[in-house]
Amino acid sequence: MPQFNETELTAAVVRSFEETPDPRVKFLMEELVKSLHDFVRKTDLTFDEWLYAIDFLTQVGQKCSPSRQEFILLSDVLGVSMLVDAVNHRERAGATETTVLGPFYVGEHKPMPHGTEIAPHLTGERMFVQARVTDLAGKPLANAPVDVWHADDDGNYDTQRPDYEKEGPSMRARFITDAEGRIYFRTILPCSYPIPTDGPVGQMILQTRRHPNRPAHIHFLVAAPGHEPLVTHVFIEGDKYLDSDVVFGVKDDLISKVEKRSDPVMPDGRKADAPWHLMTYEFRVKPGAGEAPKPMMPVTEAA
Ligand code: BEZ
Ligand code: FE
Repeated sequence: MPQFNETELTAAVVRSFEETPDPRVKFLMEELVKSLHDFVRKTDLTFDEWLYAIDFLTQVGQKCSPSRQEFILLSDVLGVSMLVDAVNHRERAGATETTVLGPFYVGEHKPMPHGTEIAPHLTGERMFVQARVTDLAGKPLANAPVDVWHADDDGNYDTQRPDYEKEGPSMRARFITDAEGRIYFRTILPCSYPIPTDGPVGQMILQTRRHPNRPAHIHFLVAAPGHEPLVTHVFIEGDKYLDSDVVFGVKDDLISKVEKRSDPVMPDGRKADAPWHLMTYEFRVKPGAGEAPKPMMPVTEAA
């Protein structure tokens, strides 16, 4: 009957994966066991603490539904999502920085003509967004689908509304770059917003005296043919949460100086009824391949 001390136990569990057919799975299981065992040894984890962790993870699982992924939220607030992003995008070579996809991407958005107002039913300060997609040498890329999505001025995404199924999308669209690599659209100025705090992850954030907010941003997913898909946000300069994003997603290059304008017309020549904001951004994408990410889950009910 084998008996193990603290260190031998780790080696024994690692050995138990010896016959795993897939070498990558074998490696991941061995490293996971080593890291978990190290954690238990380093912290002298008590039975109560271990049970608390089991109960917490159980609650995280129970909060998941077809429209809510509490485990990804946990990964986000622990910085794991951004770390996975970082190790997979080490060489940017002048390409635009990446950041988290987030849970509110619902898949290929509906293509809309340039200039469309994507938040027609929302009150809020108006904003004109103009962006260009280029390769690393600055050459414009035509016919690239660009999905955009953002929260309203209460900090909610359309999918979080109970009437989403009936009302359909708002503050989200797809634009296809023109011959100069441009897209442009109208919307409202988004604001900072809290991640959901009605579940175990949000409660953990509050109990550890962290704040639950993300700085104001617009999500972009650029899928230029022949190039790596770019998953990113553009953040609004001056937001008070830029230095303390709850999911650690901010990068300096992704912060845009949004200008306050009072010109009577917007850049596409159409009339502006009131002072407005102008966001301008250039996305540089890397040559390569890869599939654009799929939504985290199908949206069948309000999140
Ligand atoms: C978001 O930006 O939509 C988001 C990202 C991570 C967690 C929660 C929300
Ligand atoms: Fe967001």
